Amino acid sequence: MVTRVDGNGRLVGITGVGIRVPERILTNAELEQMVETSDEWIVERTGIRERRIAAPEEASSDLAIPAARVALERAGADPSEIDLVIVATSTPDMVFPSTAVLVAQELGMPRAAAYDLLAACTGFVYALAQGHGSVSSGLARKALVVGVDVMSRITNWHDRGTCILFGDGAGAVVLEPVRDGGFVGFELGADGSAGDDLCVPAGGSRAPASRETVEGDLHTTRMNGSEIFRYATRVMVDSARAVLETCGADVADVDLYVAHQANKRIVDYAAEKLGLPPEKVFLNIERYGNTSAASIPICLAEAEDQGLLDAGTRVLMTGVGGGLTWGSAYTVWPGRNGA
Ligand code: ACO
Repeated sequence: MVTRVDGNGRLVGITGVGIRVPERILTNAELEQMVETSDEWIVERTGIRERRIAAPEEASSDLAIPAARVALERAGADPSEIDLVIVATSTPDMVFPSTAVLVAQELGMPRAAAYDLLAACTGFVYALAQGHGSVSSGLARKALVVGVDVMSRITNWHDRGTCILFGDGAGAVVLEPVRDGGFVGFELGADGSAGDDLCVPAGGSRAPASRETVEGDLHTTRMNGSEIFRYATRVMVDSARAVLETCGADVADVDLYVAHQANKRIVDYAAEKLGLPPEKVFLNIERYGNTSAASIPICLAEAEDQGLLDAGTRVLMTGVGGGLTWGSAYTVWPGRNGA
């Protein structure tokens, strides 16, 4: 679906962003000791130099909560004002309670509805659209949207085709009505025909945990890398073009391109195809790898810290991931402190 949303009711924008990544850094040099690979190969084929890995006792909520605290503080929002918490993740603390409920409880949000959303690496963009819909319709006053993943827990550390890619982290944003700017449109999609090319086969109702699933490494990410690469490059370009066209915007209008950090070559390819110059392309994959649902909000938080997000900055975000799913959002950064 592709929709222009800025004429549908009140304007809604991102008024605060926050980030939390684990302290532990896993370098390519360390991976060289674990699987048959090299720093040179990883950097050349993916752009990744290091990634963060959660401590054994650190779960998704332990990253999501501090990221959300920073986002709330920067938005000047009190936790009691939050009516909705959506946590996009493929690695919740447990099946239920949802990680969103754990976040709402810890932060003191007694009025909030809270749920997790699973759309793999696209989860954050899907969650932005859901949060936007709730706030713009008046169902919620303010929403907290978090993207968090502890991918290291569902990574096969013997598979050099996947273990070099992923990292752990969390990013969070506050959505609320704004006077100027805010979201202009979304494009979201899903295509299950290639779902098997990127999946975690066991742990659900189809193949619950058993000795066989554990011994067969079926609780970790299986990926047909070259197929996903081809698919991702095509979809990222198509989705971005569709949302811009629906919003009546041209690629030249985009000030900052924040794409899911799956592989630097995928982002570079999409940017070049779209006609976006390197100075408008935000990249931090070098330091974090692919943090799945956390990737885009981590970029937003770092972009803000680098002074790249002023009032009026036009931001194009595109995510793509398991499902397969994809999503783009086009937004104008609002001024301070909402409406
Ligand atoms: N080190 C050294 N060699 C390797 C490694 C490694 N870590 N991994 C693979 N190779 C080898 C392969 O075995 C192959 O060798 P062969 O030619 O002897 O068979 C060779 O390198 C080329 O393999 P390709 O898979 O063609 O390499 P490619 O350039 O496509 O890079 C990669 C692989 C990095 C996985 C790439 O395909 C990719 O990034 N795919 C997309 C990943 C992605 O975006 N995932 C989606 C998001 S995940 C989510 O939603 C949860």
